[in-house]
Amino acid sequence: MARADQDAAPALADMDLSGKSITLAVTGGIAAYKACEIVRLLTGSGASVRVAMTQAATRFVGALTFEALSGGPVYVDQFSGGMPHLALGRGCDLLLVAPATADILAKAASGIADDLVSSVILAAQCPVAFAPAMNSAMWENPATQRNVRTLAGDGAAILGPASGPLACGTSGSGRMLEPGEIVEHCRCLLSPKPLAGKKVVVTAGPTYEAIDPVRGITNRSSGKQGYAIARSARLAGADVTLISGPTALPCPAGVRRIPVQSAAEMLDAVLGSVKDADIFIAVAAVADWGIENPCAEKIKKSSGAPEIRFRRNPDILGTVCALGERPALCVGFAAETQDILRYAQDKLRAKGADMIVANGARSAIQSDENEVIFVTRESAEPFGPAAKERVADRLIERIIQLTERSQEIQA
Ligand code: CTP
Repeated sequence: MARADQDAAPALADMDLSGKSITLAVTGGIAAYKACEIVRLLTGSGASVRVAMTQAATRFVGALTFEALSGGPVYVDQFSGGMPHLALGRGCDLLLVAPATADILAKAASGIADDLVSSVILAAQCPVAFAPAMNSAMWENPATQRNVRTLAGDGAAILGPASGPLACGTSGSGRMLEPGEIVEHCRCLLSPKPLAGKKVVVTAGPTYEAIDPVRGITNRSSGKQGYAIARSARLAGADVTLISGPTALPCPAGVRRIPVQSAAEMLDAVLGSVKDADIFIAVAAVADWGIENPCAEKIKKSSGAPEIRFRRNPDILGTVCALGERPALCVGFAAETQDILRYAQDKLRAKGADMIVANGARSAIQSDENEVIFVTRESAEPFGPAAKERVADRLIERIIQLTERSQEIQA
């Protein structure tokens, strides 16, 4: 197979931000020190970053630090000449306010422009994102919640906040997202959106079939491939629901996750989500067999070897493909140890799917890499070995092509 890096397709996951221009407005909270890392990550991805600060922010981190990290002047004074309040929010691709204090959210929501940063926000002609950071009482105050709703209603992106330990010594909501998460949201905001308006449902991870309250049957699926696909679909602008068996993975930014345990629960969640979906991607390693006689109490060894009876689990992909009003595109995976292509073609027909992504069961499971064949009724395209993120990007590109083709046929 050809190595994936010979393929010219750009990876959404590694999306280079070269050519993108971002204005970062830093306001006065303790999380201002994390904004240094945001600048470093953005410039490291190729973006050019200009920094504006409130006077209060300069009391937490010196302008000189941001000058060194961004490689340009830092703007603090509204009256320093050159109309920075107009220039900074124009001719750029994104205005990111991080950290965003309760004060700046209130000013922005009411259109107040009484210093450089609030004026930049009011004059901005590009998408605006706020990463709130404050004490939980301030965040939960109805006034702040009202301001955030107003800003979101006006089209701003609200990134976070997260819950966790706060600088004031308490714990709760109001903590700024980590710099890496904020940059990930920026990538999403800046990426092209060929799947905008499309609803995508992805299953991922293993399932867990309980034998008793402490024991069960599962498999070694890590969920990495399914999570990477959910993330790529989100970066492409889709509304993504991720129905996930037990994994330790964090939910990709902007994705709605529904955690499930058993195959039956996964089917329920899928049927509840797939009604108005355009695309269904079944990546989960669903147990083919569930336990017919799970025990309500822990089975004691003194009661002898347990007699476990199995029953067939529903075929989730097959069920969705057979729905009267099924998503326009249904994609499955086939993990095989031999005759990969033939089994994948059989599954494509048997399940009524539009594409099967065939992979080697031994190499894919628990690995960060995958080597696949995208099998449709007309073609079989090998891809990889490559990082699962690259495989996810390529799958989403194939799906975009198939969606565009079917729209052309309908037109
Ligand atoms: N799948 C599913 N529900 C099941 C079993 C599988 O939705 N109960 C989906 C998987 O998510 C995957 C595809 O069907 O997209 C293929 O799964 P696989 O286990 O490889 O195939 P099986 O249908 O179980 O066939 P076999 O056990 O014969 O390989």
